[in-house]
Amino acid sequence: MMKILILNGPNLNLLGRREPGIYGSSSFDDYLPRLRERYPEVEIAYFQSNVEGEMINKMQEVGFSYDGIVLNAGAYTHTSIALQDCIRSLKTPVIEVHISNVHTREEFRHKSMISCACRGVICGFGLDSYRLAVEALIVDG
Ligand code: DQA
Repeated sequence: MMKILILNGPNLNLLGRREPGIYGSSSFDDYLPRLRERYPEVEIAYFQSNVEGEMINKMQEVGFSYDGIVLNAGAYTHTSIALQDCIRSLKTPVIEVHISNVHTREEFRHKSMISCACRGVICGFGLDSYRLAVEALIVDG
């Protein structure tokens, strides 16, 4: 069975309550069971942390055995060389996702420190960005 980790970074625990005009009104806890139902052939693990080092620890833990990581690094996307180095160190492919289309937003969101280390980037499709990333990992094999 294919194993994928969805890893959400800072403030994404507030999905559904946080700026709903940008991020929607569904919490991740509501969304995740629907995603798992849609892909019964995939084991989808989930971890969220507001702490950069905890995200790195989690990626190191699964990054040599899982088949893929779907990473929404939140604002660390735009700042973290440590996340970039971590992604480069792993065997498991990482897909960068964003709920919002960061390129239509403030200029500081246009730059990602992690894209260059990721297999690909999906952004702007709301929570469906996560499903599209899972789909991409399945197609990629
Ligand atoms: C985000 C976009 C980031 O710029 C922001 O800091 C987030 C969420 C998104 O999913 O659209 O926290 O990654």
